[in-house]
Amino acid sequence: MKRYPKDKTNGPVSISVPPALDIVNLHVSFKERRQKLSVLNGLSLTVEKGEFVAIVGPSGCGKSTLFHIIGGLLKPQDGQVLMNGKQVTGQRGHISYMPQQPALFPWRTIEDNVLLAGEIASATAFTAPVAPRAEALAEARQWLGSVGLAGFERAYPHQLSGGMQQRVAFLRALLSPQELMLLDEPFSALDALTRSDMQRWLLDIWEQNRRSVLFITHNIEEALLLADRVYVLSNRPAAVLHEVHVPFDRPRRDEITEEPAFLERKRQIAQWMKEEQQKARLS
Ligand SMILES: Nc1ncnc2c1ncn2[C@@H]1O[C@H](COP(=O)(O)OP(=O)(O)OP(=O)(O)O)[C@@H](O)[C@H]1O
Ligand SMILES: [Mg+2]
Repeated sequence: MKRYPKDKTNGPVSISVPPALDIVNLHVSFKERRQKLSVLNGLSLTVEKGEFVAIVGPSGCGKSTLFHIIGGLLKPQDGQVLMNGKQVTGQRGHISYMPQQPALFPWRTIEDNVLLAGEIASATAFTAPVAPRAEALAEARQWLGSVGLAGFERAYPHQLSGGMQQRVAFLRALLSPQELMLLDEPFSALDALTRSDMQRWLLDIWEQNRRSVLFITHNIEEALLLADRVYVLSNRPAAVLHEVHVPFDRPRRDEITEEPAFLERKRQIAQWMKEEQQKARLS
């Protein structure tokens, strides 16, 4: 069993605080037409309680696969997933999850799609009871308004653009009661201005209640603006190449993106990514 460092922030009596998420030495491969495709190769990472962690890595390296493992949709050949120190490898229902594809149910209205995560959670024994439907509906409508979707509550997913659907899927994850939230490229379908609005909005909400977040993005600036730490992954099969601590104060100001310390980290990560791209081309 893994041992965790003592938390020294809580005064003289130190208590052991396990991370919200502890990924230990994951190995995953797929069998395709008798060929083995190795996707994760001894990948380990952690998300501390209340920490915002971003992952960047080359396309196809295994980031979404990692989320499928954490969510219990896939089982690794080797390695462990621990949440708050408990073994949950292969188990479902412990996380709030926004998949890379919005995956809305076409027969449910937008507001009913937003409510879905709470309904599922209340049907499992993993979380505390959620609010009654009328209360949850009022809350969902308010949230839809705050992401620019007022007036679309009773619409169906096919009546929304890709970016609008993405915001619905994002809200569904945000309103799920689980403490750990996994977001797989949540803003990739948005134009630059809407994306920037959504980043600011997420930062404000997150800084108020500090859930534990693991966030996949291809946008290095977004990773540095939002996260406390950034993991940089290698080409497939993915392992952690680098871990970057992001030292800027919270609440984060938009102006930090202009500061030398920010620009230096951005340049360094971009350089690492470029090197991985070159390795992939040569192999
Ligand atoms: N169920 C599956 N069966 C077979 N191969 C799979 C499966 N899921 C993913 N793969 C393969 O695993 C590799 C990693 O895929 P994954 O979706 O995890 O990449 P990613 O890092 O999320 O990429 P992107 O940044 O483009 O979203 C790819 O080569 C993909 O084809
Ligand atoms: Mg992906």
